[in-house]
Amino acid sequence: MRATKALLTCWLVLVLLSSLGVAQLRTAAARHNLFVGTAVNNDAFNNTSGEPLYRPTLAREYNMVVAENIMKFDALEPAQNQFNFAPADALVAFAQANGMVVRGHNLIWHNQIPNWLQNGNFNRTQLIAIMQNHITTVMRHFAGKVIAWDVVNEAISDNNGNPNPLRTSLWFNGIGADYITMAFQFARQADPTAKLYYNDYNIEGSGGKPDAAFQLVSGLKAQGLIDGIGWQMHQINPFTISSANQSNATRLQNLGLELSMTELDIRMQLPDDSTKQQQQASSYSSVVNFCLAQPACVAIVTWGFTDKFSWIPGTFSGFGDALPFDMNYQPKPAYTAFLNALGGSAPPAAPTNLVASPGNAQVQLTWTASSGATSYNVKRATVSGGPFTLAGTSTTTSFTDTGLTNGTTFFYVVSAVNANGESANSAQVSATPSAGTANFTLSAAPNTLTVNQGASGTSTISIARTNFTGAVTLSATGLPSGVTASFNTSPTTANSSVLTLSASATATTGAATVTITGTGGGLTNTTTIALTVGMGGTNNGGVTITPVVASSSNFFNEEDVRVANTQNVTAMSVTIVIQRTTGISSSGQYNTIGNGVTQGISSTSATITDTFNFTGTLTPGSGRIFAAQTSGTGTAHPTAGDTWSVTYTTGGQSFTQTGHF
Ligand code: XIL
Repeated sequence: MRATKALLTCWLVLVLLSSLGVAQLRTAAARHNLFVGTAVNNDAFNNTSGEPLYRPTLAREYNMVVAENIMKFDALEPAQNQFNFAPADALVAFAQANGMVVRGHNLIWHNQIPNWLQNGNFNRTQLIAIMQNHITTVMRHFAGKVIAWDVVNEAISDNNGNPNPLRTSLWFNGIGADYITMAFQFARQADPTAKLYYNDYNIEGSGGKPDAAFQLVSGLKAQGLIDGIGWQMHQINPFTISSANQSNATRLQNLGLELSMTELDIRMQLPDDSTKQQQQASSYSSVVNFCLAQPACVAIVTWGFTDKFSWIPGTFSGFGDALPFDMNYQPKPAYTAFLNALGGSAPPAAPTNLVASPGNAQVQLTWTASSGATSYNVKRATVSGGPFTLAGTSTTTSFTDTGLTNGTTFFYVVSAVNANGESANSAQVSATPSAGTANFTLSAAPNTLTVNQGASGTSTISIARTNFTGAVTLSATGLPSGVTASFNTSPTTANSSVLTLSASATATTGAATVTITGTGGGLTNTTTIALTVGMGGTNNGGVTITPVVASSSNFFNEEDVRVANTQNVTAMSVTIVIQRTTGISSSGQYNTIGNGVTQGISSTSATITDTFNFTGTLTPGSGRIFAAQTSGTGTAHPTAGDTWSVTYTTGGQSFTQTGHF
């Protein structure tokens, strides 16, 4: 039973009724009767043009706010008995307008004390009067508007009782240890309806400081002066709730106190990275799960919400990124973990790839599903950008909008909906219904294509349209095994898309007919490509070279390079290098291709080099001869020392083969 939370129920019902479907953490938290809050940075809060997302994010996510600074002593009473409530009143008004409650932070603290007070050399009686006046004036001003006050903040020393359990401060030095009890008495008198809190850091676990805090609040509770304890929870990533936290929470709850996490942040050493973000997400989960498991835990308040406005980088050098939203107000993994721990989840993402295909007095819409969506809202406008009105809803990823006026251009967006709310709108598309028969045809250029194993080739698929401006979804069928097809855009409202056919190193070779199918607006059309898959690089592109010593005598030699190819070769250069042994000289060269071949012979004292350069198309065939002829003087020539090299292009790939005779 969350007896201490029962009083919140009326308030929660009101908030649930008034909250928009887009509320996130607060919606999930409300199901647990839990407040989820944040400290508000007043500069960001007031910079509505420079920080346009600050207020909307605040209002969407949180049902509790606390002023980061503007309700501290120096801000509210900058001169003695002269109170400046305007900034805090603006925050309170914003909270009320958005169904949020306000925590008051803080009344009595050793920091952020105005100069007149710090340097005023006031005696004990005067300090007590100043304290009473401040507490009374502030709490009465905000009575009924601030549900809980940090009456005393950070009063316990970090030195484990040495020399005193309490921190030395203006208040302790000037009044004595009983300033705390007095503060709570004045607070109780000023606004009996507000929850009164003691708030501090490093009192969450076990040890001297948590024990001192426990003693302090035990005494106050026995006098009926306190209602809750605030654990600030400024933690370091990665953080996990421990058994010490649990034991401490249990003894505090047993006193009858409520517990709030008042200043939660989980700072990480910069630079940030995804591992740290995941750890931080787990850390936030740990805190949220812990609070949910404590009957007395009524609030989780983070000390800011966007990493853009956080006290951490300015206070803990080298640390930052402690909060659930990043610098751009985008939710971090910590946010998702926070939300998930509360049992909430976000609305779906906006649908993508919305396509509008006009028909006769109608427009057909299709889109890509949003994960987790249960339905879609289809919205129509006659002006680009809206205003949009609901044209209909769909539980599938398509919708046909009928009864439209031909010749009018209609604009559409679609949003996705689930139990958590509605997504943002998709990108806008438009279509103009027309009475003319809508159609399109497809063609491919080139429509014959050779692609070698391990390589790819492209063809442009053109879409010729009549009375049809909708998107065409393209697909390829009839692909040989190992060949994949991709289109640079599909679905497309453009008039062409580039198809890339990619053959793996082991793709099935040979001829195939690839059918390109386009669908859109209820129409289906096709075109074909004659595809040949050639052999790849490891097979030398289907070219076989055979060196042949066609004639070998003491007076005449002929050494041939013979070529067989199984697919078109578009360039080939052949080099035959003959050693210039005693008496050897070139006596000629020839080839059996003829057209497109340029021949040449060059000599040095060491070699005779025959070259043949072919450009054109050498269609599949065999027995093509490139021959180098030499004459001798009666001595046998050692042909095995002569070499050949053939470089050629086939299927868009270049290959080189070499060897000797
Ligand atoms: C911090 C604010 O975040 C800063 O902007 C300010 O300069 C100093 O105070 N414990 C508290 C908070 O109780 O009031 C402190 O807030 C952070 C530590």
